Amino acid sequence: MCGIIGYVGKRPAVPILVEGLRRLEYRGYDSAGVALASPGDIAITKAAGRLSVIEQRVDFTQPQTQGIGHTRWATHGAPTDINAHPHVGGDGLIALIHNGIVENNRSLRTYLMQHEVQFESETDTEVLAQLIAHFYEGDLEKAVRKALHEVSGTYGIAVVCADEPDLIVAARKGSPLIIGVGTDEHILASDAAAILAHTTQVVYMGEGEVAVIRPDSLRLTTLDAIPVAKDIEKVEWTLDQIELAGYDHFMLKEIHEQPEAIENCLRGRIDVKEGKIHLGGLVDCARELARAKRIVITACGTAWHAGLVGEYLFEELVRVPTETEYASEFRYRNPIIDDGTVVLGVSQSGETTDTHSALVEAKQRGAMVLGIVNVVGSTIAREVDAGVFLHVGPEIGVASTKAFTGQLAVLAMMACFLGRRKHLSPTAAAQFISALAKIPDQMRQVLDNTTATREVVKEYVDCDNWLYLGRGYNYPAALEGALKIKEVSYIHAEGLPAAEMKHGPIALITQGMPVVCIATDGIQYDKIRNNISEVRTRGGSVIAIATEGNTEIKEMVEHVIYVPDTIEPLQPLITSIPLQLIAYEAAVLRGCNVDKPRNLAKSVTVE
Ligand code: F6R
Repeated sequence: MCGIIGYVGKRPAVPILVEGLRRLEYRGYDSAGVALASPGDIAITKAAGRLSVIEQRVDFTQPQTQGIGHTRWATHGAPTDINAHPHVGGDGLIALIHNGIVENNRSLRTYLMQHEVQFESETDTEVLAQLIAHFYEGDLEKAVRKALHEVSGTYGIAVVCADEPDLIVAARKGSPLIIGVGTDEHILASDAAAILAHTTQVVYMGEGEVAVIRPDSLRLTTLDAIPVAKDIEKVEWTLDQIELAGYDHFMLKEIHEQPEAIENCLRGRIDVKEGKIHLGGLVDCARELARAKRIVITACGTAWHAGLVGEYLFEELVRVPTETEYASEFRYRNPIIDDGTVVLGVSQSGETTDTHSALVEAKQRGAMVLGIVNVVGSTIAREVDAGVFLHVGPEIGVASTKAFTGQLAVLAMMACFLGRRKHLSPTAAAQFISALAKIPDQMRQVLDNTTATREVVKEYVDCDNWLYLGRGYNYPAALEGALKIKEVSYIHAEGLPAAEMKHGPIALITQGMPVVCIATDGIQYDKIRNNISEVRTRGGSVIAIATEGNTEIKEMVEHVIYVPDTIEPLQPLITSIPLQLIAYEAAVLRGCNVDKPRNLAKSVTVE
């Protein structure tokens, strides 16, 4: 959550900070601010609201060549001007920006108040700024270390001091920070998107590390000042990938990127001719994996929905008992983990605290821990025993789209890869792989004709309650469809396994209520047809997602959106696209800010 940027170099800092914040705004957008350090002074501009407010207020001609900037997603304290970051300590001596939560902020606040410190805001961040100022005796690095020793909780911080203006001290625990390395300059950021315009050479800060950053030097140590040697790495993402490229919204751009994204995800990994899957990240542990007696998939939100598809895939193709758990629940419920358990975390960002903590817990209990992650260099990617990257490119839209289908594609490849080491015959694997190879073109087919979806949405856009029904592999797709429309259009929607509807939720159905039914061809088609009748008998209006060529369904429902035929385990890769488009169109028609939905932000790094 929250975006962090810092600059020390030779160029004026304001344009670099503001442009960096613009690229990070997807991480939080309820307030923003910048602090510019010069000898004896720190100039702060901060305000509640979108970054545009800061852009109007900040003086772009200021000469300072170092500073920090922040875009906030509120946790402690409402989004107001005062609660916006940066926060100052010691009467303006120190300014700090922070992502995370200082859990013991109350006791620290009491301690500081006993030392005559006065607070302006309700935030935990101001407590940290004041604590650093309290310990400051002419050496910012030392004061930061001393203060962080007193803190429990999580943080990614950047601190500047009026006495040492050419210096940023940064530290991370549970919240990512990356340092871009340029010529006579360094750019600190919470993710690579803010750095790419300047350099692709980066240093990833590790857990518990402190960075002392000056224009021409960079030193990393542990919190206890033990030096840490670091390699400079190259970020593979390009600037084009994080720009709108003519689309109105990142969500729409990313929906349309899916055919190419999935091609990139599959490239070099599926061999249709040989009927084989190559997953480089799993080669070393393939044997151990094949011995797994149980697989636990853990994730949050959309990634959890992908995990649920993974559960079905693993049980069908690998025949190993698999369960998918919300990471936040798994972590705290004393889970049973034994030698034979493999725990697989699914996360686009690789930074989600709940998922990361669940994996840490599993590792501590002796499980082999795997990751399916999009962001290379992220915390989860670095800490798991092995894993597979999505390679779908950066996802900027807050509502996850291409990462979801990327997760499905990787889970499908993993299931086939492991299945071949267990029960899956070469012929079955070859058929599966050849169906998978067709998915990008089938996605293109769906995306080439989106008019029908728009027309359908127009009819129901004023309805405040929707249901999404699916069976088998399409049950998680229904959950995901409901989540998408909730997130971006604020329509209340529920996703259900279609048969569950009659056990209660059917009471919700009223005349004209939109019910999206995923009714593609497969072993449960007849069953979902019955569920459709149940809905229609009660006056519900059915929008069916059906397989091309199914003419019968037209007679049964109000609207049909056709999708190309594929095997059942891969259907969610295709059926989720019209569901994403329904959510997008509803949001646009309702005048919602698609890329910055209310109360949300990308990458949840708090519990
Ligand atoms: C929904 C969405 C979230 C994320 C969830 C996990 O559109 O994006 O539900 O899926 O916060 O995030 P990652 O995958 O980054 O761990």
